[in-house]
Amino acid sequence: MKSSALREISIEHQQQHGTTTFPLAFAGQGREAADEVLAWLAANRQQVLELASLHGAILFRDGGFEEASDFDGFVSALQLDNFSYRDSLSNAVRVNFTERVFSANEAPSDVKIYLHHELAQTPRFPTYIAFFCEVSPAEGGATPLCRSDVLYDRLLAEQPEFIASLRNYGLKYSNVMPGVDDPESGMGRSWQSTLGVETRSEAEQRLQQMGYSWEWSSQQELRATTPVLPAIREVAPGKFTLFNQLIAAYSGWSDPRNDPSNAIRLGNEQPLSSEGVSQMIALADELTFDMPWQTGDVALLDNTLVMHGRRPFRGRRKVLASLGNPQSHAFA
Ligand code: FE2
Repeated sequence: MKSSALREISIEHQQQHGTTTFPLAFAGQGREAADEVLAWLAANRQQVLELASLHGAILFRDGGFEEASDFDGFVSALQLDNFSYRDSLSNAVRVNFTERVFSANEAPSDVKIYLHHELAQTPRFPTYIAFFCEVSPAEGGATPLCRSDVLYDRLLAEQPEFIASLRNYGLKYSNVMPGVDDPESGMGRSWQSTLGVETRSEAEQRLQQMGYSWEWSSQQELRATTPVLPAIREVAPGKFTLFNQLIAAYSGWSDPRNDPSNAIRLGNEQPLSSEGVSQMIALADELTFDMPWQTGDVALLDNTLVMHGRRPFRGRRKVLASLGNPQSHAFA
């Protein structure tokens, strides 16, 4: 990548997978050169997106990004089709700062968010997800990143039958949504907000359109179960990722309404192999790169290739997110 505005840098614990670097990292020259960076990104957007899809993630450091509007400028320069929080079926409680930019998750600092591909548990998901660190926390708060294609290859070698079950049957996810937003939970978005509806019958209509099944509880809570969704994705010929929310649903979909043991099962209604899941989690931990946020950092991820999460933290942390180029699951 040739640019006078950005130069490639190396960062600690960067990984090498074949000819790819994870994450790829570039540095700008601070606030004065910010316009130059944006102009360069706009002129080379295709190349930047291709690099993100090849390497999985790109970190932009010292690019002169200081506030939400600068981050909006970043995603706008790349001309990504906006996938708004309102239109997504995200289960996180979030706050919008601009039309394209919102808080990554309002969950309290001690809540760990497990590795996942953004919205892989819903019919529509973003191809790209970008993050902006407006305020880096005093302690902790890294964004763990994991190359899902590398994980797939490793898991296939160790648990071929588990991979075959995911490939053959896909996955179904269930979660219980509250009647009002619960910001204490990492998955506390109300059913009205999640589905963009006001009444129970509108909610049912929307779920039916998307092939979901559902059940109401006496407390106005809604338990929704997805149709069967693919668990594995071919991101390039012969290159597969574990494009799903398996780890997060199995380990982390826990709050006063949700019990992770009811959150996920194979598409044929059978439970997942606990040995397969344990192995997947152990390998993912081994392959994780912790994005060490510095204030002003922006990261661009190909969401179909890389999983992300959030480490607990202390102190104030402000990381914003933006979702781009929504697409639907491809069924074999
Ligand atoms: Fe996420």
